[in-house]
Amino acid sequence: MERTHTLLAKSFHWSFILLYVYGIFKQVNNLEDLEDTNLLLFEIVFATVFLVIVILRYSYMSRFKTFLGSQEPVHIVHYYFARTVHKAMYACFILLPLTGLVIAGLYNQGYTVNATPDEEQTVIDLVLDLHGAVANLSYMLILLHIAAAIYSRIKGEGVWSSMVPILKEDKPTKNKIVNKMALLEGQFYDKVQALLTRKKK
Ligand code: HEM
Ligand code: HEM
Repeated sequence: MERTHTLLAKSFHWSFILLYVYGIFKQVNNLEDLEDTNLLLFEIVFATVFLVIVILRYSYMSRFKTFLGSQEPVHIVHYYFARTVHKAMYACFILLPLTGLVIAGLYNQGYTVNATPDEEQTVIDLVLDLHGAVANLSYMLILLHIAAAIYSRIKGEGVWSSMVPILKEDKPTKNKIVNKMALLEGQFYDKVQALLTRKKK
């Protein structure tokens, strides 16, 4: 039987994208902008709401298997790769608002200057760097995630249809090139598995 994500899972997935994109686009450009108390308060409320939604989503989604919709057996290495990318995305979605809230707290404590690299660094410079690095990591993980979803759709495994309401899959592709790629992919996972199990012995 075709397995699909629940309506709530799909709602979390697609509505969260709007929240994330909004968070990224409305970003504070400069530490000095926090002088505006209304902006500072708005950022704190936004980051808190964002954090609560991520925690609710994670607690709901953690009960479902990765690749829930797959019609084919999933290689254990592939399964752990995907799980790692999903968990890393969640880690970013938690660290982004958390570091933001730390910035707000430090700003309130009088850390109001972002030093240039040749000036003496303080704790706020470190947190600002972390905030930016987490944002950059989240872009890369999301690009990887979307590329993997498209590749899975091309193979026609059923994973896409379990979450995406359009361009649903019919059955696995019969395209020779794609199937050859999938074969190579499987061989790669076998090698990784052999390497990992050898290390354990
Ligand atoms: C065109 C864009 C996208 C497509 C086609 C897509 C597709 C999918 C699919 C098919 C799954 C299910 C995987 C499974 O069942 O194991 C999934 C899960 C997931 N997606 Fe996306 N996605 C897209 C964009 C995004 C974006 C922008 C984010 C982050 C802001 C994101 C975050 C996640 C996360 C964290 C999961 C893990 C399951 C969950 O907790 O909801 N996706 N996505
Ligand atoms: C979910 C919530 C948040 C998201 C998604 C977010 C996102 C971002 C992004 C993408 C950047 C640009 C980073 C870079 O390219 O280096 C940024 C910068 C910044 N964010 Fe956030 N942020 C959030 C919460 C907060 C909060 C609560 C504060 C503090 C009140 C804050 C303060 C700042 C500051 C001061 C910068 C500018 C850093 C600089 O001076 O270069 N952010 N944020």
